[in-house]
Amino acid sequence: MTIYCATTNPGKFREFGLIFAHYAGEALDVATVPKVPAPEETGTTFAANAALKACYYSRHVDGFVFADDSGLCVDALDGAPGVYSARYAGENANDEDNNALVLRNMAGVENRTARFVCAIAVARAGELVASFEDFVEGRLVDAPRGSHGFGYDPLFHYEPFGATFGETPPERKLLVSHRGKAMEKTICWVLETIVKN
Ligand code: IMP
Repeated sequence: MTIYCATTNPGKFREFGLIFAHYAGEALDVATVPKVPAPEETGTTFAANAALKACYYSRHVDGFVFADDSGLCVDALDGAPGVYSARYAGENANDEDNNALVLRNMAGVENRTARFVCAIAVARAGELVASFEDFVEGRLVDAPRGSHGFGYDPLFHYEPFGATFGETPPERKLLVSHRGKAMEKTICWVLETIVKN
């Protein structure tokens, strides 16, 4: 069975590819949705935006579509950048701009606890059929470290690894990350509920 992935973010798509490679023997393939204009992400929660994207793209393919909405929540910034993670420094901001703004807003701040959150929604023919969420806790460093990953990975220090996600190979990050854990739940649900029936 093919399940469609509704993301235009190359960093996320690379991670989804690695996750699906683990399930290669399970008759489950991943494909991208056709190029159609992206919907506006108007939700105020990760779950709402994931559902909105999955439902929207599932009107354009024949089959199940999953969408991820994810981001960084910093305690000292009252949960920001949160659902605005991709555009924290402005609509056309890139990862470096967003990271620089987080570091500026965190300059001199002692409490550096933060978490990555990932919500995944599965939809078919415009209807939400399942949703999952997970997170990973870490601390923000003072300057970017490492060139792996994408987004805020170089700022996010994961204590058990003694390294930022930017310094962590992608396969290792996925074992503990918000996306890795939320996708594990999603794939198990797809295999149990859809593929085996
Ligand atoms: P979305 O595409 O609207 O869900 O935006 C997600 C944004 O959150 C990304 O562009 C990154 O800035 C950030 N983000 C989400 N997951 C990760 C991750 O695993 N590592 C680093 N940044 C992430």
